[in-house]
Amino acid sequence: MEKIVILTGAGISAESGLGTFRDEGGLWAQHRIEDVATPEGFARNPDLVHAFYNARRVQAAAARPNAAHEALARLQRDWPGEVVIVTQNVDGLHEAADTARVIHMHGTLAGALCAVCDHRWQSPPEMQTGQPCPACGAAAGRPDVVWFGEMPYFMDEIFDHLDNTDLFAAIGTSGQVYPAAGFVQEARRAGAATVEINLDPSEGASMFDQALTGPATSTVPAWVESLLTKAR
Ligand code: OAD
Repeated sequence: MEKIVILTGAGISAESGLGTFRDEGGLWAQHRIEDVATPEGFARNPDLVHAFYNARRVQAAAARPNAAHEALARLQRDWPGEVVIVTQNVDGLHEAADTARVIHMHGTLAGALCAVCDHRWQSPPEMQTGQPCPACGAAAGRPDVVWFGEMPYFMDEIFDHLDNTDLFAAIGTSGQVYPAAGFVQEARRAGAATVEINLDPSEGASMFDQALTGPATSTVPAWVESLLTKAR
């Protein structure tokens, strides 16, 4: 049976009340990327970076998964083939919707990472500058999120999935950040059918075979239903 690889972005969590990055009034209109989402920004002003992610952790903890997260969890459960969900999101809403496995290529707000020894542990709700690493003791705890200039996680595994997929879907992502923005081309090279599911067509929409536009809470459940109906 066909394999499906799905990439999700901030747009899938928008209707759960979490702001996107590049929409009007989005996070990158309120904060400078170089201040809060780069290793250099963290070295310059760790208090500011922790404050940014602490606020996002509080917001994410209060958010509930929406019908789009739930539909993808259903697809993963009921589709007769493999469904791989890769997310750029650092929230835990796919897991909260009972998705069996999610590949967090940009890390998670739930994680802390030691900048000295790479040890990972569960982040407290509020991280502070000088957070001690439970493994090596260095006062170097940071959020376990991928910043600009850093290599996203699980890339070999993700490219293996893309090279073997029959269908690739990008949901709620503007397609402006690489390497995720290049996944559609990789999947196409592998001969996969491709679909973009977004509020509006993204700048890269022409790279997809099909575009479904509208809010994720209506488009994604309808798309999942049509796939499962065909599989029956
Ligand atoms: P963006 O904010 O760049 O894009 C969000 C996309 O979701 C846009 O194309 C919106 O049109 C769409 N959208 C908004 N509301 C929606 C809704 N209700 N239903 C469906 N689509 C909707 O977010 P990402 O593409 O996820 O990385 O951003 C990618 C990466 O850039 C993030 O992971 C983050 C950011 O900088 C890092 O911090 C490293």
